[in-house]
Amino acid sequence: MNRTSLPRRIFSCTRSIFNSNIRKMATATRDPNTLSNYNVWRSTHITANFGILFDQKKLAGSVVHRFKSLTNAESREIILDTSYLDISGVKVDGQPTKWELLPSIAPFGTPLKISLDQGIKLDGTVEVDIEVNTTEKCTALQWLTPAQTSNKRHPYMFSQCQAIHARSIFPCQDTPDVKSTIDFNITSPLPVMTSGLPIKGEISQSGTQIYRFNQSVPIPSYLFAIASGDVAEAPIGPRSVVATSPDKLDECQWELKADTETFITTIEKIVYPYVWGKYNVLILPPSFPYGGMENPIFTFATPSIISKDRENIDVIAHELAHSWSGNLVTNASWEHFWLNEGWTVYLERRAYRHFSAIIGWKALSDSVEHFGHDHEFTKLVLDLDGKDPDDSFSSIPYEKGFNFLFHLENLVGKPKFDKFIPHYFTVFKFKSLDSFEFKATILDFFKSDAEASKLLNELDWDTWFYAPGLPPKPQFDTSLVDVVYKLAKKWETAGSSFKPQASDLDGLTANQIVVFLEQILRWEQPLSPELSKTMGEVYGLTKSNNIEVSNLYLQVGMKAGDESVIKPTTELLGHIGRMKFVRPLYRNLQKINRPVALETFEKYKDFYHPICRGMVEKDLFGKKDN
Ligand code: BES
Ligand code: ZN
Repeated sequence: MNRTSLPRRIFSCTRSIFNSNIRKMATATRDPNTLSNYNVWRSTHITANFGILFDQKKLAGSVVHRFKSLTNAESREIILDTSYLDISGVKVDGQPTKWELLPSIAPFGTPLKISLDQGIKLDGTVEVDIEVNTTEKCTALQWLTPAQTSNKRHPYMFSQCQAIHARSIFPCQDTPDVKSTIDFNITSPLPVMTSGLPIKGEISQSGTQIYRFNQSVPIPSYLFAIASGDVAEAPIGPRSVVATSPDKLDECQWELKADTETFITTIEKIVYPYVWGKYNVLILPPSFPYGGMENPIFTFATPSIISKDRENIDVIAHELAHSWSGNLVTNASWEHFWLNEGWTVYLERRAYRHFSAIIGWKALSDSVEHFGHDHEFTKLVLDLDGKDPDDSFSSIPYEKGFNFLFHLENLVGKPKFDKFIPHYFTVFKFKSLDSFEFKATILDFFKSDAEASKLLNELDWDTWFYAPGLPPKPQFDTSLVDVVYKLAKKWETAGSSFKPQASDLDGLTANQIVVFLEQILRWEQPLSPELSKTMGEVYGLTKSNNIEVSNLYLQVGMKAGDESVIKPTTELLGHIGRMKFVRPLYRNLQKINRPVALETFEKYKDFYHPICRGMVEKDLFGKKDN
């Protein structure tokens, strides 16, 4: 079956009648997760004017879009995505205009319809100024009280817009298929960071500071980012600072300063020079729901990567790599998310090798197990019509995507693939693309190379794109993990011939211990509760600074039915909001003791970011919304 994006979109059957009506109104776009008519109008520049009101936990202000007309049809309707916004007025070219909110369509929000007095010819522009405040139902923002911060002195707020949460901050064409330049004018009593470069600010009439930023590279809405709180900065490289709570600054600087610039220059050599000017990292409070988020200028990252052993900086290599894959060359919709994440993992692993491909394969097989081998979300190219992209999130686009690119590299040979990389990133620089364009581009690049061209044309593209389940397993270099595989093997005879002792772990890095624990988790027959407890005690695993280690040990313990890990698990769940840990810990906890899982969630739900809270609710109580 040869599929292209557009015809499928037109003929696809939509689960919701509302949805298909709106989609017809908007005529077909290649992104099913936006309700905007972005194929009629295109936002080219955004000015975001917001006050950060910590006491009311909201952003208040206005957003101005410059829209370009994409047709000669002179449409008089601009439809934007919104979600739980408080909109009080809309002006078109300075004049108040008619606007209305259309019926909501879960999980995509409430379309905002703006009426124009007259249509605009192809390439003509209008300026649309929307007065907007966020509400307490905003899913992108988390507002922390001083008590929830590191030094307990000031409130804090931060955003997380990927995948479709930007619409809960301001009305926009919330699709990765549209890119705009952005000016940020933000007032706040505390320092502000955004996904733009700072320009000189001033003091406002009310006495608060105005922070101004500009992003002159066009970016999609999901890369809009803002954070404000009591933070200080320290250099971690010639074009990089780390920002974090003043009491954590030294340890964050130590963790990142040895590698950040090396990562940048390594990827520059593989692709081409870094275009964004500065590459900074903001280490957030522990409720940040992801390991890292590739917001331009400032990567947002979880404090759980600050493990005092520099063993989790693959997250930084990863977010940095997004400066090319994702932030310059972007997936046209979340159905082609592997183009963002698979390419990023590929570049990350070229910059920083250790043995994450092995850890990655385990994550891939876990995700396939979790969804089921035939599940839609285990495909490389997804059908997300009517679906919430957050529900499809897993290791699959990362690891299947990486494996696909690695397969292509091996197929044509590394020297040739190395020439394709900068070509691809040049052709689609500042653009968005889908998997079909990717395929066409690589075939075209190698068309005059008979050998590579033959191999690529014979490749079973449809199986790679649409077959569910695991791809063929490649040969990994296991030299660094053989030692821990041996140790895991010994544990099969623990309690009889093997006597565990602390020195078993001598010389092993935290990541090697991670592979060891993952090996134990793979056993069909779990450890006995007693042996699991012995492992924790003898190896000191609950006390590890490295949460990748302590989290896995707690899972080993819960799988073994060792009740002594319940308390440390609930404690950890009150200290970390990164979904990679929180979701599996709750899933395992509810298996061993559901009342404790529910009680723990009730206790800590306000600590979690709204995205994490929503996902755990779905995990514990089943689906809400659609
Ligand atoms: N862009 C992602 C995070 C994301 C994905 C947020 C989808 C919202 C929706 C980020 O680049 C990422 O992949 N982070 C990983 C890092 C890891 C792969 C090294 C994470 O958070 O664990
Ligand atoms: Zn990523």
